[in-house]
Amino acid sequence: MLPEHTSKQIIGTKSQILKGKKIALCITGSVAAVECPIIARELMRHGAEVYAVMSPAATKLISPALMEWATGNPVVTELTGMVEHISLAGEHPNAVSIVLVAPATANTISKIAYGIDDTPVTTVVTTAIGAKIPVVVVPAMHESMYHHPIILENLKRLEAYGIEIIGPRFEEGKAKIAHINTIVARVIEILSKKKDMKGLKVLITGGPTREYIDAVRYISNPSSGKMGVALAEEAALRGAEVTLIYGPGTAEPPFNVKVIRVETTKEMLDAALSEVGEKCYDIIICAAAVSDYAPESKVNEKIPSGKENLQISLKPLPKVIDAIRLAAPKAFLVGFKAEYGVSKEELISRAIKKLRNANLDMIVANDVSKPNAGFSAESNEVYVIDKRENVHHISLSNKKIVASRIFDLILEELWEGKEKIISEELISQTRESL
Ligand SMILES: Cc1cc2nc3c(=O)[nH]c(=O)nc-3n(C[C@H](O)[C@H](O)[C@H](O)COP(=O)(O)O)c2cc1C
Repeated sequence: MLPEHTSKQIIGTKSQILKGKKIALCITGSVAAVECPIIARELMRHGAEVYAVMSPAATKLISPALMEWATGNPVVTELTGMVEHISLAGEHPNAVSIVLVAPATANTISKIAYGIDDTPVTTVVTTAIGAKIPVVVVPAMHESMYHHPIILENLKRLEAYGIEIIGPRFEEGKAKIAHINTIVARVIEILSKKKDMKGLKVLITGGPTREYIDAVRYISNPSSGKMGVALAEEAALRGAEVTLIYGPGTAEPPFNVKVIRVETTKEMLDAALSEVGEKCYDIIICAAAVSDYAPESKVNEKIPSGKENLQISLKPLPKVIDAIRLAAPKAFLVGFKAEYGVSKEELISRAIKKLRNANLDMIVANDVSKPNAGFSAESNEVYVIDKRENVHHISLSNKKIVASRIFDLILEELWEGKEKIISEELISQTRESL
C-alpha cells in the first residue's frame, strides 16, 4: 500500500474548524471548474477531507488527475459496482457531511430540480437529499443562460427542497461562480453549526390562520410564517427532531422537518393536541399568528355582493397555547406576543403578564409596527423574557439569526432546569442511602 498522499499534508494548516468533516466536491462542466483545485485545497487547509466527483462534461474541462492531486483522494468519474454514491452520500457510516456542487451548470441545476440522476454528480446529489445530507449549489454560467426563466424557477425549486444556493456574482456578462472565500466561509458556517439539540423533540407553530366568513372570504393577518420557518430550520440544523404545524404562510418550510399544514385556528389546535398526545415534546414554540376571533357562524356559500350593510359578529377563539400547556405540562413552552405601536416598557409589561397568566417558560415579544420587524419582513427585533422575568434584547437582525439566539436562550434555561432536577434527585437518593 502506498503511503498517504503528500497533498494531505496541507490538511488543517490554517485551522481545525473542519477537522473530521468529509466534503463531496461535485464538479460539473463549467469553465469555473478551474477554481476547483483551489476550493478543495482551501477546505482542506481548514481540516476537511475532500472527495471530488465529476460529471463527464467536467472531465473535458479539467483532468480528474488534477483533482486527485489536489485532494489526495481518488476521484469519482463514473459509478461502479462499488456504489460510490452510497458510500459518499447515502445512509452510510462514512458518508460526507456536505455535498458542494461547485460549479453547478444550468444543466445540472435543472436535473437536480427534477430528481434526474444520469451523471455521478446528479446521482450523488439525489442520494444526499434522500439521506438528509446538506447540499449546497454554486451556479456558474453565462448571464444569458442564468436569466432563462426555467433556470431561475429551477433554482427556486432547489431552495424549496432546502438546498442552499451561493451566488452567482455578475461580472463581464457572466453569472460567475461565487468567490472562493465566500464558498469556504459558508461551508464552514454550515458544518460548524453546533449539534446541541440532538435528541430533543421540538414542536413549532408558524404562519397565520384563517377564519372563514363565508365559502370564499376569511379574516386573517399578513404573517408570512418566516419566523416559524426560521425556528424550525435552526432547530433541525442543530440536530433536533422537528415538527412544524404551519398555517397558510408564504415562506417555504424546510425539507428536513415534519410539516403539518393547517388553515384555521381550530385545525392548528387539533393538530397541536394530537402531536403532544402522540409524542413527548421537550420544547414547544407557539410562533403562529393565530386569529383570536372568528365569525360567530360561517355561511356555507358566497355572500352576494351589493348588500347595503353587512354585519359580522365575532366570537373569541380558544387560546391554542393554553390548551397546549394543559396537554403538555412538562414541555418547555415558549409563546410569542406581537403588539402594535407600544412603548418598549409596555411591550415588556404585556409580555410578562402573558408569561405569568399562561404559565409559560419563556416569551418572545415584538412590536410589529417597527420598520423591518413586521409580519412579512426578513428581519425582526425582539425581547425574550424568561421565567425569572429576565429580559434579553435581540436587536434588529435577520430572522435566522433571531431564531438562533432564541434557541441559545432556550437551551440555557432548559439545561439549567434539567441540572436542578438531576441535582435534586441526587440529593434525595443520597439521603435515602444514608
Ligand atoms: C468550454 C465550455 C464551457 C462551459 N461553461 C459552462 C458554464 O459555465 N455553465 C454552464 O451552465 N454550462 C457551461 N457549458 C456547457 C455545459 O458543459 C453543458 O451544458 C454540459 O452538458 C453540462 O453537463 P453537466 O451539467 O453534466 O456537467 C460549457 C461548455 C463548454 C464546452
